[in-house]
Formats: sequence, structure tokens, C-alpha cells
Amino acid sequence: MINIAIDGHVGSGKSTLAKGLAKRLGFYVFDTGAIYRGIACEYMSRNLGEPNEEIINDFIKTFEVKVKFIDDVEHVFVNGKDWTPNLRLEQTSVMAGKISPYPKLRDKVLSSQRDFAKTHDVVMEGRDIGTRVLPNADFKFFVTASEEVRAGRRFDQIKGTANAPTYEQILQDLRDRDYRDEHREVAALRPAEDGIIIDSSNQTLEETIEKCLQIINERA
Ligand code: DC
Repeated sequence: MINIAIDGHVGSGKSTLAKGLAKRLGFYVFDTGAIYRGIACEYMSRNLGEPNEEIINDFIKTFEVKVKFIDDVEHVFVNGKDWTPNLRLEQTSVMAGKISPYPKLRDKVLSSQRDFAKTHDVVMEGRDIGTRVLPNADFKFFVTASEEVRAGRRFDQIKGTANAPTYEQILQDLRDRDYRDEHREVAALRPAEDGIIIDSSNQTLEETIEKCLQIINERA
């Protein structure tokens, strides 16, 4: 099986790159953030209040999480409930950010990611894929772009919508998230030692995909 790990900064275009690469290669694309989001939905449905270590350690004993691809769409089931329609809600993003740093919760979801990669050609995307989940991945890409470029892309996506934040607010939010991602105690965001840094600041998505494909073909 061929495994490609993609990690990177918020707004770097890593999800779009993962999808584009998977399409060109005919591989599955596995978004690991969806697992944390599905668990966050389950957590919220139980009304357990603000998470802390004790609550999380009890909570993880009470569910099983499964990822299934149905018509090429990744679905996340927790105790058999398909949370896919709720994964992108704002409250889900907030809760996923709160629960994902707990080490025991991360340990619990490790095998669902590794087992999939053992049995499928996959582009797996997340924060700790190259460093922890798939340390022996065939290719490890770490995608980034300058803060200004990332904030500008986000601004272009949402400008004109109701209550859209200013460019300066987006930039500050991005800096705060980078700081939290890079400095958290567990699964801090960083390139793997043998990771290939892809800076998409001055490239279109197509160019970034081509660059990664070229690296894959050269090494294959
Ligand atoms: O990539 P995303 O926004 O869908 O991720 C949702 C949350 O899960 C986000 O807070 C980061 C976290 N996450 C993580 O800790 N490790 C991963 N491999 C993927 C996501």
C-alpha cells in the first residue's frame, strides 16, 4: 500500500491539496480531522459540560468510532450514529478544538487511522500524520504559506458575506491558531524530520499538486 501523509498550517490549502492529489493518483483521501469532529458531536450530544481530563477519560470508555467511505464520501460513525451532516458546524469545530488535545482520546483514534492506511492506498491529512500516525509513510508533505497569503485567501473566500471579519481580524485569528497548534503539549504541529516542506505562497493549487506529483514520481 502507498501512504501519503499531509500535515500543515491552518489555511495552507492542505485539504484541497490532499483531495487533488488523491484524485490524480486514484487513492482514498482520509481527513483525520473528521474523526475528532465526529467525537465532538457525540460529546456534545451527551451534555457533559466543558471537557476536562477526568471527563474525557471516562467518556472514551463509552464509545467506538468508525470511519466508512460511502460513495467515496468519508462518514464518521460513533456508536453506530452517523455524525457526518454535523461535522462542519461551527460548534463542532469549537468542541473538536477543545477535545482533540487530550492524549488518551488521541490514542483511542490512532488505530482507526493506521488500520485504514495498512489496507488502502491513501492520502491522509491532519496535524500529526507524518510525525505520529504514519511515521513510515512513503511520502510526507508539510504544507504551508505565509500568514499574509493564508489570511488573504480566507478573506477572499468570505468577503461580502454577512458579518465577515476584516482582513486584520482574520490575520490575528490565524496567528493565534498557529501559536496554539505549534505550542500545544500533545501532537504539536511540526514537519516530520523527513518531511518535505511545500510552500504554496506563490503557487496555484494546480502548481502545488504538480510539484507533489513530480516529487512522488521521481522517488517512486
Ligand atoms: O482539520 P480540522 O479543522 O477538520 O480538524 C478538526 C480539529 O481536530 C482541529 O481542532 C484540529 C484537530 N485535529 C488534530 O488534533 N489532529 C489531527 N490529525 C486532525 C485534526
